Amino acid sequence: MTLYGVGLGPGDAGLLTVRGAQVLDEVDVVYTPGRLSRSVALEHVPESRIGDLEFPMTRDEAELRQAWKSAASDVAPTAEDGDAAFVTLGDPNVYSTFGHLRRTIERFHPGVDVEVVPGVSSVTAFAAALDVEIAAGSELTLREASGGDAPVGPDRLILFKVTDVPVTHEKLVDAGYEVTYGRRLFMEQGETVITDDPTELADRDYYTLAYAERADVDDDHALFES
Ligand SMILES: C[S@@+](CC[C@H](N)C(=O)[O-])C[C@H]1O[C@@H](n2cnc3c(N)ncnc32)[C@H](O)[C@@H]1O
Repeated sequence: MTLYGVGLGPGDAGLLTVRGAQVLDEVDVVYTPGRLSRSVALEHVPESRIGDLEFPMTRDEAELRQAWKSAASDVAPTAEDGDAAFVTLGDPNVYSTFGHLRRTIERFHPGVDVEVVPGVSSVTAFAAALDVEIAAGSELTLREASGGDAPVGPDRLILFKVTDVPVTHEKLVDAGYEVTYGRRLFMEQGETVITDDPTELADRDYYTLAYAERADVDDDHALFES
């Protein structure tokens, strides 16, 4: 019948949508791709309905393709006979593992319907956590910045996968940006850190993002000024 891709939100069980909770309540099996998504799902679903999927820690494309094929073979029978959900942190359609599963299911198990239930993405949750306003008409660009990378150019950047904060920070500051970091925002697992001091985030933590704004950007939304 249906495989639902359900966005769990950033990691706080209270930020799962009502629709997401309803789907998790109704499906036969809730498949989780990792420890963090499993622990969030467990706040809504009994362990007896959780299905774990194993993925190798590799960038080898052939190995990954094989892992997704095997995950799709595990999930497909449940989704053919009943309903299943695959959960991801944030939103399933934003930089997410769900895209791989969806493509593999569509190719090898065309009898399964796929439906996406959106989640609160860190792309939007960061604004509340960092107390940033992206005003109407402003540009906001999403990029990745792993391993000390620092893509520059746009006025405002949200950077994912900031795994080497000190090196990325130096490059961003040299390029004229003011930067704030958010680690494990709205997450129950681990410590949430919000800071503009890169030395506080010298250790690597995958769940780190950065908001970078050009120091010279015109951010004057002076509606009430005379
Ligand atoms: C593969 S992307 C997944 C994005 C997710 N699908 C979403 O919509 O938020 C993973 C990156 O998102 C960012 N991220 C996701 N959740 C986060 C959180 N709760 N706090 C801080 N960063 C987060 C981190 O930069 C992390 O490296």
